[in-house]
Amino acid sequence: MIGPNRLNESNLKGFVKGNNMAFTYFFRDLQTIEAIRDHALPDLRARKFIDIWDAGCAMGQEPYSLSMILNESMGYMYFRNVRILATDIDESNLFEEIISKAAYPEEQIQRIPKGIFNKFFSQDDKAGYFKLNEEIRKSVTFQKHNLLTLIPPAKDFGLILCKNVLLHFNDAERLKVISMFHEALTDGGYLALEQTQKLPKEAQHLFAPVISNAQLFKKL
Ligand SMILES: C[S@@+](CC[C@H](N)C(=O)[O-])C[C@H]1O[C@@H](n2cnc3c(N)ncnc32)[C@H](O)[C@@H]1O
Repeated sequence: MIGPNRLNESNLKGFVKGNNMAFTYFFRDLQTIEAIRDHALPDLRARKFIDIWDAGCAMGQEPYSLSMILNESMGYMYFRNVRILATDIDESNLFEEIISKAAYPEEQIQRIPKGIFNKFFSQDDKAGYFKLNEEIRKSVTFQKHNLLTLIPPAKDFGLILCKNVLLHFNDAERLKVISMFHEALTDGGYLALEQTQKLPKEAQHLFAPVISNAQLFKKL
């Protein structure tokens, strides 16, 4: 249980600066998020529900960026059809509270395009913080999860997003985790990795590349 005073400005800032492992920011690697929107979403939209797993989500900036971009593309259909499960090992035990509050300090939201920022954020009660609107907040659920258990938190995902996490694992672990992603995806589901994370050759028979300028793959 997280104590009521654990999440305050000083420990959040200290955590962000002091823990490189959890370093991230809103709209990081927009190219991959746009590739998902343009090359996976049109296919996934045919399904009744689109279940997405963001594995290694840090403090929510990535799943919330994805949520805002997909919402922009799908409009009112988005909140009825899309569910994002965001997971992280969360060694600090702070992420659940940060993600459920979804209030971020000014310096973390500077890359968000102005139109999107104005649409989805408002001033938080706390000075210098801005809060995501309730609908976007509700589209993301956080769960503590260690990828190296090799047990997925659920199955039949339409999309798994795992960026800047696999580089922390050794070759054997990386392959096992990618195989777990394959198992956890629904038939024809998509896997997105960061630009620099190539699919190991031992896993290439499991997925087909979707486009050349992003690490976006379709389950075979
Ligand atoms: C650099 S951040 C990446 C955040 C975001 N995905 C991005 O690309 O900006 C790496 C995240 O992986 C998480 N992580 C590291 N090992 C993990 C594991 N075994 N299981 C789940 N998450 C893990 C860390 O806690 C951290 O939040």
